[in-house]
Amino acid sequence: MRRAVLIICSLAIAASAVAASQPPLPKGYTSWHKSPRKVVSDKKSLFYGIHYLYANKKAMQGYRAGNKFPEGSQIVVEHFNIKNGNPAVDGPKNMVVLMRKDKRQKATAGWLYAGYTAQGKPSGLDPVSNCFECHQKEAAKRDYVFSGSADFR
Ligand code: HEC
Repeated sequence: MRRAVLIICSLAIAASAVAASQPPLPKGYTSWHKSPRKVVSDKKSLFYGIHYLYANKKAMQGYRAGNKFPEGSQIVVEHFNIKNGNPAVDGPKNMVVLMRKDKRQKATAGWLYAGYTAQGKPSGLDPVSNCFECHQKEAAKRDYVFSGSADFR
């Protein structure tokens, strides 16, 4: 029992350490280049729901160069639930994610990954196991970015 408590405590500390090292959401990202509304209606998908991509100027240069992103590129995704099975309207916001090209992030191939709650608070997810592993597996050849310039038309 004590052991279980200790494990839970150390997990909580680890999560808060990640949260503490996580930067705040970039101010003003809602004025960046915004993608059209994207609906994923496959319930098996991690992205089941509605989302919008936001890209800063450098990230837009990166998309236009065929997914070769310069240092300082930033991409934010706002994700919304589908409410009552009706994809025509955005349900409640359920998470926000950020990628920022930052060469100091050696463990994640030069991209910072961060997840936030709907209120924009750091959610303390591990950038390697909760984010990078999937991006690496499926999008390494696209500079770890799944979306492309076509997603902004
Ligand atoms: C199981 C795979 C998977 C995991 C885990 C995952 N992502 Fe993604 N991510 C995707 C896919 C697929 C897209 C493309 C969505 C679209 O079509 O717009 C994406 C898109 C993104 C984008 C927009 C840029 C791009 O690649 O198109 C950001 C930013 C992002 N994810 C951040 C994160 C963060 C931060 C985490 C961890 C908290 C995370 N992701 C975890 C699969 C994943």
